[in-house]
Amino acid sequence: MNPKTAAYDLQGLEQGEIEAIDKLLPILQYEDGRLRVGSLDAHDLYSAEQVPLIIYIASRIRDNYIDIDTAFRRWFPSLKTYFALKSCYLRPVVEELLQLGAGMEVMSHMEVELARALGCPDDKIISNGIGRSSAYVQATVTPPVGMVVIDSQEDLNRVSAAAVAAGVQVKIGVRVTPLADDNARYIGKSSKLGVDWEKGCFFRLLENALHAPNCQLYTLHAHQLTHANDLNTYRSTMRGIARVAQEVTKHFGFSFSMIDIGGGLDTRYLLKRRGLDASMFAEVVAAELDAVGYDFQLCIEPGRHIVADAAVGLTGVTGEKRNAQRNWRITELGSNILIPLQEIAYHPIPTRLPPKSNAMWTDYDVGDSTGAPSRLCEKVKLPIGEEGRTLAILNCGAYTTVFAELWAFRLPRILYYDSNSVRTLFGDAEHRDMLRAYYQYDFSAFLDPPKTTNA
Ligand SMILES: Cc1ncc(COP(=O)(O)O)c(C=O)c1O
Repeated sequence: MNPKTAAYDLQGLEQGEIEAIDKLLPILQYEDGRLRVGSLDAHDLYSAEQVPLIIYIASRIRDNYIDIDTAFRRWFPSLKTYFALKSCYLRPVVEELLQLGAGMEVMSHMEVELARALGCPDDKIISNGIGRSSAYVQATVTPPVGMVVIDSQEDLNRVSAAAVAAGVQVKIGVRVTPLADDNARYIGKSSKLGVDWEKGCFFRLLENALHAPNCQLYTLHAHQLTHANDLNTYRSTMRGIARVAQEVTKHFGFSFSMIDIGGGLDTRYLLKRRGLDASMFAEVVAAELDAVGYDFQLCIEPGRHIVADAAVGLTGVTGEKRNAQRNWRITELGSNILIPLQEIAYHPIPTRLPPKSNAMWTDYDVGDSTGAPSRLCEKVKLPIGEEGRTLAILNCGAYTTVFAELWAFRLPRILYYDSNSVRTLFGDAEHRDMLRAYYQYDFSAFLDPPKTTNA
C-alpha cells in the first residue's frame, strides 16, 4: 500500500503489522498468540464479562506527552505545552498530565471549571472559543487565566469589558487563519474559527486588540490542522504563520511574546506507520518560524497525539454479514463511544491469533449496529472464524467519552490501567444512574440481562 494515499490510515492494518503490533504500539503485544495490553490478557478481560470496554493506559499517556514535549522543547527551550482538554475529560488522565507539567487548553465554561477543579493553576489555562457565554468570559477573567485567545470582535469587547469591570489585566492572543500554499487544511478560509488574513480582517481585530482596555496583546494563535500526517501541509501552515508575524511587525512594529500553533498532530502510532514522529514536525516548525525574525515563546496544544492511542477498546462481534462486495463484522463498540467521523478509522485487531499452520485471514469491514451507514474501519484483515470475533480496537482515546452518543446501545465500561492495577472509572452502576437521570426510567433489564455463554 502506498503510505501517501489518504485512505492508508482508514483501512485496517496489514496482517504483518497486526502480528508485530508492539512495533507500532508498544503497550500491546501478542504472547503465544494472545494479545496483551500491558500485562493484561485482552481476551480474558473481555470474556470474563462480555461487555465492551475501553482501557486507558497510563504509561502511554505519559510517554506520548513526554515524546511531543521533548520533540518541540529541543528547538524551543521555553516551550509551553497545553493539553487540549476537550480531547479527554477523564480525571486520572488529566491529573497525570498536570503532574507532568502540562497546562490545559479549554474551550468552554464547563472546561475552564473542570481544569480548575482538577488542580490546574489559573496561569496554566489557555482559553479558546467563539461566541463565548458571559459566564465563560467571567470565569476566564476573574481571576484571569494565563491567556484568552480571541477570534471575534464581539468576544474581544466582552473580555475587555469584563476585565475593566473586575479591575484586572488579561493577557490575550488573537487567532488568525493564515494564508497557506495548499488548501488541504482543516480550518480553511472564512471558517467560524480564526480570523481570515485576507481583506484586512485580521489587521482590524489586531488593531482593536492592541487598544482594548485592560487587555495585553501577547500571543499569535493559529490552530489549523487535524490529524496532520504529512510534513508538506504542516510546513505550508507554519510558513503562513511566520508570514503573519512578519507582516504584523512591518505594519504595527509589534512583536508577539508567544506564538501558539495549536494541536493537530495525528495519533502517534499512525505517524509511526508513515515513518514520521513528533520530532520531524518540530523541526519543520523551528525551520519555518525562524523567519519570524525575533525571539518568542512557542506554545503547542496537542490533544489527539497524547490520548488517541493510549486507549484500547475491547469488543465482541455480534454478527457477521456478507454483502455483494463486502463482508461485515458488527461490533458492540462504535458510535456509542467513538466519534463516527469519515476521516478517522479505529483499527480492529484480534485478541487471539489463529495458529500459524492453518491461519486464514480475509478482509472485513467493521461497524457497529447503529442505524447509520457508519463504519469503524474498512478492509480490515482478520482471521476467519472465532479468533476474529473478539477484537481490540485501536485509536480509541481521543474525543471519545466527550462525544459519545448515549442512545440505543450499551456504553463501554471505562477502565484505567496503571502500575499493573486496573480500576473502573465508569461501570454499570454509573451507566444505570446516568441513563435514569437522562431518560427517567429504569434500565435494569438492559444492563443486567441473564448471562449467556459465548465462545
Ligand atoms: C484550539 C484548539 N487547540 C487544540 C486542539 C487539539 O487538536 P488535536 O487534538 O488535533 O491535537 C483543538 C481541537 O479541536 C483546538 O480546537
